[in-house]
Amino acid sequence: MRLSVVGCGYVGLVTGACLAEAGHEVICTDIDEQRIAHLQAGGVPIYEHHLDKILESARSAGKISYTLNAGEAIRGGDAIFICVGTPPKENGEADLTAIDHVARQIATEARTAKLVIEKSTVPARTGLELRRALTAYSRNSGLAFRVVSNPEFLREGTAVSDFLHPDRIVVGVEDEASARDMREIYRPILERSFRCPVHNGTCPPGNAVSLLITTINSAELIKHASNSFLALKISYANVIADLCEKIGADVEEVTHAMGLDPRIGEQFLRAGLGFGGFCFPKDLQAFVHLAGTVGVDFDILKAAERVNKQRIERFFEKVRRALWVVKDKRVAVLGLAFKANTDDIRFSPALEVVKELLRQGAQVQATDPEAISRAQALFPAASYHEDPYDALRDAEAALVCTEWDIFRNLDWERAGQLMARRLVVDGRNLYSPSRMRALGFEYHSFGRE
Ligand code: UDX
Repeated sequence: MRLSVVGCGYVGLVTGACLAEAGHEVICTDIDEQRIAHLQAGGVPIYEHHLDKILESARSAGKISYTLNAGEAIRGGDAIFICVGTPPKENGEADLTAIDHVARQIATEARTAKLVIEKSTVPARTGLELRRALTAYSRNSGLAFRVVSNPEFLREGTAVSDFLHPDRIVVGVEDEASARDMREIYRPILERSFRCPVHNGTCPPGNAVSLLITTINSAELIKHASNSFLALKISYANVIADLCEKIGADVEEVTHAMGLDPRIGEQFLRAGLGFGGFCFPKDLQAFVHLAGTVGVDFDILKAAERVNKQRIERFFEKVRRALWVVKDKRVAVLGLAFKANTDDIRFSPALEVVKELLRQGAQVQATDPEAISRAQALFPAASYHEDPYDALRDAEAALVCTEWDIFRNLDWERAGQLMARRLVVDGRNLYSPSRMRALGFEYHSFGRE
């Protein structure tokens, strides 16, 4: 099929690249002139594992193209994926201005009726509003657009693999024809009949992927309900960690045993500095806001958000207790990205730590395998080091903020010799307390005092 993708950000590029890889002809557009020029020249504006490889193979096979001209992209596809940003407003509500703008462009630029697929994360009922907007804006042409909700469940760092090997594909529709078209778009992925770039050309054996057909409202709700549940799970583990500290138990032992119950599952029970990134905090707020607009008080989600915000304070309590006065102390910060294997620092708990350290007058020596240049632009007062051992040199404390493997595997004996004092406050529970203490470190983590 011929597909258009509006918005060449993180979601749009992964969607476009993967659907081209699955055999479709894809035309992408964006309002960012530089971004389009970069893509047209064969560049990749974001870092995502495998993305450069599949964009290149799609480009050389003539399966993907880019244009600044939205009209050209809109007319060039039978189905249009809307992948524009839906950032949070002050009050937590999702800002849908870009979606409205694209709806107007589609309605005025299209010459034939299109299938309009909402891929951006949006609050429930947006699809219905989108259809109303398309109808209103296409008054003159009278074209009958069909609207579909097809939420993404992509994790940064594994987005390509998540797209090509999903747990489920959710499609919210209003009519049979749209369901049929969506099944056709995803057929290669459902049947695993594409050359898999993630696994050297062959899809690994696995269960068939299910395509769930729902109403539009349900599809939109599934996305927010899933992300909010995962956030809730993390905050739950964090409260258990606080309890463990007071009672004298080990949170890792507790959550490991809990996770063995398949009804609970082991993932997203890691205690520490809490969740960050561009999705969880914003989706949680948008979901609470949506619930409020229809008179449902989503108290448990508000509590999850509150618990998450308190993680930084809890972390600093530990730092203050250990360091006493923070001012003028040399402190190493290990990790700046919001999670491992990404250069993304948006809503990163690690940055909150850097900010607070600088506010209190510490000399911050930060390190991260991917995120230094982004963080440097925001906090030029800190010093930045590619090599973690350089960041640790002469430091009176090391604060672990991101769960990168390179930090997990640090040689702490060597680090201890470089540091001015053997003190580690671990916001990600990466090390064994007994081992760190055996190496002569004063070691603090979450839920394991
Ligand atoms: C998330 C969802 O997983 C994905 O389905 C959705 O489409 C977008 O949002 P992402 O933001 O890439 O993906 O990050 P994820 O890997 O889910 O981690 C979110 C945050 O939670 C990170 O800051 C991570 O460090 C933190 N986390 C995760 C914990 O603190 N504890 C855990 O046990 C798991």
